[in-house]
Amino acid sequence: MEEFQYQKGKLFCEGVDIQNLTRRIETPFYLYSYRKIIDNFREIKNSFALLSPLVCYSLKANDNLTLCRILSEEGAGADIVSGGELYKALLAGFSPHKIIFAGVGKGEKEIKEAIEEDIFMFNIESEGEWEVIERIARRLNKGVKISIRVNPDIDPETHRYITTGKKENKFGLNFSQAEKLYKEIKKSDKVEPRGIHIHIGSQITTPYPYFQSLKKVLKFVRHLQEEGIDLEYIDIGGGFGISYEETKPALKIKELVEIIAPLIQKMEMKLILEPGRYIMGNAGVLVTRVRYKKRMESKTFIIVDAGMNDLIRPSLYGAYHRIKKVKEPQNDSIEEIVDVVGPICESGDFFAQERSLPKIEEGEYLAIMDTGAYGFSMSSSYNARPRLAEILVKDKRWWIIRERESYQDLVRKEIIPQDLFSNRPLMQNSYLPFTKMEGSGNDFIIVDNRLSLLQNGREFALKFCPRKKGIGADGVLILKESSKADFKVQIFNSDGSEAEMCGNGARCIAHFAYLKGITGRRGSFETLAGIISYEIQNENRVKVKMSDPHSISLNIALSLGKESLRGHYLNTGVPHFVLFVPKIEEAPLEDLAPRIRYHSKFKPAGTNVDFVEVGKNILRMRTYERGVEGETLACGTGAVASAIISNLIYSLDSPIKVRTRGGELSVYFEKAGKEKFANVFLEGEAEVVYEGKITIR
Ligand code: LLP
Repeated sequence: MEEFQYQKGKLFCEGVDIQNLTRRIETPFYLYSYRKIIDNFREIKNSFALLSPLVCYSLKANDNLTLCRILSEEGAGADIVSGGELYKALLAGFSPHKIIFAGVGKGEKEIKEAIEEDIFMFNIESEGEWEVIERIARRLNKGVKISIRVNPDIDPETHRYITTGKKENKFGLNFSQAEKLYKEIKKSDKVEPRGIHIHIGSQITTPYPYFQSLKKVLKFVRHLQEEGIDLEYIDIGGGFGISYEETKPALKIKELVEIIAPLIQKMEMKLILEPGRYIMGNAGVLVTRVRYKKRMESKTFIIVDAGMNDLIRPSLYGAYHRIKKVKEPQNDSIEEIVDVVGPICESGDFFAQERSLPKIEEGEYLAIMDTGAYGFSMSSSYNARPRLAEILVKDKRWWIIRERESYQDLVRKEIIPQDLFSNRPLMQNSYLPFTKMEGSGNDFIIVDNRLSLLQNGREFALKFCPRKKGIGADGVLILKESSKADFKVQIFNSDGSEAEMCGNGARCIAHFAYLKGITGRRGSFETLAGIISYEIQNENRVKVKMSDPHSISLNIALSLGKESLRGHYLNTGVPHFVLFVPKIEEAPLEDLAPRIRYHSKFKPAGTNVDFVEVGKNILRMRTYERGVEGETLACGTGAVASAIISNLIYSLDSPIKVRTRGGELSVYFEKAGKEKFANVFLEGEAEVVYEGKITIR
């Protein structure tokens, strides 16, 4: 593991001193070498060069997006085993045309997603699975390429939990079942049999099991040819073993190529490989701190801050991982026989047992070696331990490529049903996390209240909206569970009144839900004005479907004392009164708006007031908002109201740009009748300003 070496008495990852890193990053954490990942991948690619294989990295070994991206940029394909891995593979930049989908129990939903993404190939494992694939391909009217995974009944002589190619394993089909299925599939006009797949196990350190199974498989391929089934691809899976102990060498890739290449060349087949461990395994270490050293009657325990939830291989497979001190031991240092164990409440929580290691003291750091594969990807938050940070090193630089989880992450998806308990607040005197967001100059305090931490939205708004004594915001958006949509939002104005809907707020809450992983790019939420759906366009732009405008009443004459004026009324979720003015900056907003807002014509609800200047392809707008009782920098429902009225009065067409003091919005709509509109969308920015927490009592 040359990328992890001692230099001047200290363990380095490439050019980074690990001890120094522990001062910046809380242990435990996973640490990866960029160089090692690239070298391992290229070693496989170059050794197999004469067969020009498609190397599909097996995401299950480690699906961190940055690490995957390194490989996708190197030209690798991806071997995936779930819809989640498909999602991550695409995010990491793997071309769908290089993605193969394996797995003995693929679900309908993930099959559909993969067909829709036009992935390269499915490795199918049962007749039932083929029927599902065929049905979905037919429904979507799409072609699908498949290989059948055969079980060659070969013992790869590895741990029994990771042996997959023996007849007692659940994987693949035997040759006669496979032949029957190939013949069946050949009749389909949607699904095409193109290849054959084997994967006999993992951590295989000699080439012979590959050779033996390949011989069997190729004999079968020849037989299929005689039966009129020609296969183009042979996928030999992954499983290339690495060296976890000095005395146990890795699989010699060159040797493997030497013995299998003649077989494959003779068949003139294209080769696919699915390595996982070989690429990532020795490119990563788990850095952990010694918390306590405890001498018992028969054993000495080194208790570290990493646990079996972070690295389960020793507990699950009895796997051996070298353990190195981050501070290099002296040549003459004493060795001690110890068990290195974690803090989890299980006796199976160990990293080494009865291991002779240079003397280890409390407070020092250790590196558990060769944990880049099946380390983080198999980790959990058992014992409510947030999952670890992952750090990537390249030369002398390093990056956090995954943040350590927080306590909030631990409860993120949990829901406490409100009707199960009395109305008593869940937590007294506790911290309430909030997010401050801004959409076109309207600012909001957003609270994810699925855990019912907050009892009274009105009081909260009155207390925290004031800019000098609170957090400062135009309103509060409270996210709750909903049985009708992805979530529900309650909107409170700064005066504590509840609003039916708010266009800028809608964009903020939609973006918030997306950022917190509550929904995907598309979603919907419930408001007092109905269900609102949305789409996140890119980083900060959000398009929200607004409720259809109603109660349109054009050319209303209002008398305000001595003066009278003419404007237009409508409801775009909330009531608006629109007035056209020649020059927006000179509009008498302060004088007129409050009087219109409380005008007897609009009682009891009152109305918002929009002043609009019609420009070339653009409206300029200023709004007085009910509830805020003053001018705001922008108003989403006001922008929609102005656009709709401008269509009716000045025949402006969708999309209409509306420039407000807070930013530019776009309004999209379709005309559905004389004064009827449908499919109204509002698009604009919605950004996070900061996150914080406040004490609630
Ligand atoms: N292809 C298929 C169909 C697989 O099932 C696997 C791994 C691979 C490729 C990649 O195998 P690799 O090259 O990484 O050996 N958690 C275990 C290993 C499980 C392997 C599962 N399948 C461990 O920590 O040793």
